Amino acid sequence: MKYNPVALIRKKRDGKKFQADEIQFLVGEYASKRIPDYQMSALLMAVYFRGMDDAETGQLMHAMMRSGETLDLSRIDCPVIDKHSTGGVGDKISLILAPLVASCGVCVPMISGRGLGHTGGTLDKLGSIPGFRTDLDVRRFIKQLKKINIAMCGQTRTIAPADKRLYALRDVTATVDSIPLIAASIMSKKLAEDLDGLVLDVKFGNGAFMKEYSKAKELARAMIQIGKRFGVRVAAVMTDMNNPLGTYVGNSLEVMESIEALQGRGSADVMEVTYALGTAMLRLGTIKGGQRLLRKKIATGEALQVFAQLVRAQNGDPRVIDDYSLLPIARKRYSVVSPSRGYIHNVDTYLLGMLLVELGGGRMKKGDSIDPSCGFKIHKKIGDRIKKGECLIEIFGDNKTWAQRVKRCMPDVFLIKTSPSRKKPLIREILT
Ligand code: URA
Repeated sequence: MKYNPVALIRKKRDGKKFQADEIQFLVGEYASKRIPDYQMSALLMAVYFRGMDDAETGQLMHAMMRSGETLDLSRIDCPVIDKHSTGGVGDKISLILAPLVASCGVCVPMISGRGLGHTGGTLDKLGSIPGFRTDLDVRRFIKQLKKINIAMCGQTRTIAPADKRLYALRDVTATVDSIPLIAASIMSKKLAEDLDGLVLDVKFGNGAFMKEYSKAKELARAMIQIGKRFGVRVAAVMTDMNNPLGTYVGNSLEVMESIEALQGRGSADVMEVTYALGTAMLRLGTIKGGQRLLRKKIATGEALQVFAQLVRAQNGDPRVIDDYSLLPIARKRYSVVSPSRGYIHNVDTYLLGMLLVELGGGRMKKGDSIDPSCGFKIHKKIGDRIKKGECLIEIFGDNKTWAQRVKRCMPDVFLIKTSPSRKKPLIREILT
């Protein structure tokens, strides 16, 4: 071996900086299974406590990206721009945004993930459309991009395989929430897409991965720095996750809500985030028109047409657009009403996400199966006034025992006080 793994663990443990070659060695040897999990676990813990600077984080991203295949989209003659969200509750923005910006002439090669813990995943939402395939191989993915400018699939085995192994190890060694490790992990998959630009939706608040604003901003900054080093334009929209996003939470329900948004009936918060991210994507792609162009593409139905093309191209049933009964949506509903009058001061968005898991609509560990039919309709959010007996939230769930259990927990989600409360801005800042 070129380096002694024990010496490298000691180096980081003692707070020293790695050279590019050392990072390449560690990632390469781990991916080839020549460094065992126990040594990599110790190294990850050392990084967790000692951190990595921008140069090391960039090198880690590069080593993970180069552990697998990278797309070659050089023959696509429009700007190639993607979006990534750090994950939230009710976050269905990709389903609306990707066809919307594709209809404006942007190529969107979106490789997404599944839901885990309290956060939902784009792949699970798309997977609730009958027939929709999210397991495209690289050849089919590129062919589709050339044809319709948009493809949405899961991380293939060939894209950043070292990240896949490392992420699984971080998951069981309490080393997920390290900013350099998260930044390198996210960017290794995104930059493998051969992008011209990337827009990040970095969430903060009680339903976000990074609860504190300062930490979320640090993560955004680390990812922007990686983009700079590797010649990819990156912008980050900092969005508040102290409320669930939109009206529905749950896989099929969010597909339905996304179709409504593409038909011009999106809720104000969903459209605000969609337009902010969309405008940033157009700007990175040097496409003129901004929000006015995005609104026009929704009004003319062109964005919805691209969504239909996407569904058809990936073997899904496009009739869901006109007939929601083709989506698996739970028939049984339970209303949770307010015990008193007043104003909503807090929504425990993290708990709401965990209650979706409890209801069967999310997963606690990778590989768990989910029920796409269940979820919630949100009637009240922070700043809203409520009367005694008025509906706070509806539960959609055909499993009566689970739905009743979730119903009993719902009062813990909402904090109601008699004094008025204020809505907070949804977008705190846009970083470039
Ligand atoms: N998502 C990723 O892809 N990687 C992380 O480390 C965290 C979230």
